[in-house]
Amino acid sequence: NLCGFPHFMLKEIQQQPESVQICLAHYFHAISEPLLSVPVNLNEVHILACGTSYHAGLITQHWIEQLVNIPVRVRSGSEFQEAPLPMTANTLTIGITQSGETADTLNAIALDKQRRLAQSEVFQPHLLGITNQPNSALSQRVDWTMPTLAGTEIGVAATKTFLNQLIVCFYFTLELALSRQAISPETVQAYWAELSTLPAKIRAVLQLETQIKPIAQAMINQQHCMVLGRGINQAIALEGALKLKETTYLHAEGYSAGEFMHGPIALLDERVPVIAIAPTDSTHAAMIANLRQVKSHGSPIIGILTEDVPPETASLFDHVLILPAIADPLSPILSVIPLQLLAYHLAVQRGLNVDKPRNITKTLSE
Ligand code: M6R
Repeated sequence: NLCGFPHFMLKEIQQQPESVQICLAHYFHAISEPLLSVPVNLNEVHILACGTSYHAGLITQHWIEQLVNIPVRVRSGSEFQEAPLPMTANTLTIGITQSGETADTLNAIALDKQRRLAQSEVFQPHLLGITNQPNSALSQRVDWTMPTLAGTEIGVAATKTFLNQLIVCFYFTLELALSRQAISPETVQAYWAELSTLPAKIRAVLQLETQIKPIAQAMINQQHCMVLGRGINQAIALEGALKLKETTYLHAEGYSAGEFMHGPIALLDERVPVIAIAPTDSTHAAMIANLRQVKSHGSPIIGILTEDVPPETASLFDHVLILPAIADPLSPILSVIPLQLLAYHLAVQRGLNVDKPRNITKTLSE
């Protein structure tokens, strides 16, 4: 049921304040009495996932490494068969999949489990599944399941399920950090206070839609586009480019802004717009330095910025989309939304079937 929306993708983007609220309420009750008995002797985490869920994995890697201080490796489910990661008896493996049925991710989890069983004397059954479908095949293969509680997502493009994956992964990071005394209970409380502001801030970001429609209009005939981010928002650059590619068929590349300077910058001219995710955090100065180079090649720049952007840098941008301020680690939860809306409006303005893009289906089952 579209409930008056023209497409499921737009409905699901607009549902994000409510779906995040439901997820937060569920996990808020859990923080004082943890849902999982995650072993405190973990010495590393592996994350297996594909597509948008893989990007949630990259953000989770950043969170766990920075807040828990243990190493995390993220591997695409489709690559794990060819190159399984070396693991120890105290490695936790997390499978992230919206559908819980993606064959590449399921096969990777099955191989992980098989390797643990082959070493059963020493290896622990440390497999965690994060999925929007708690009764899916994934849940049958893991030791614990954390539901993402986003409700049914019909559009092929993952939107609200991605945001809820991030909420669950951040909750998991806090729980792990707390159990290992890597952060204080006061810090956890401060993060919860920030998390509780998300539904209102997501609503504010959704108001940017009126500014995003003309940006989509300006991009209607473009062939290429670059999406740049730094630090934790590098994964959002990849996710934004994926959303643009799959719904609009625009050739969009997501890059680390720093890495982009090492060759790909040669692609730029006035026909290649650059979308820069540049919140005012510790990456901002380096990002602005990169963008000055981008500007010198003539590319129009669309900036996804935060409220406190210095006026002297605002002039670098041809279009500015301002996000509400949020604690730095949580910025991906807001910065992805303008990219979802841009992908949606560009696809619609190009006359494409945004809910069912060509060549892809929602679930890749076995
Ligand atoms: O159901 P899953 O999360 O396992 O799906 C993984 C990918 O196939 C999926 O994220 C795909 O990339 C989406 N169409 C992205 O919008």
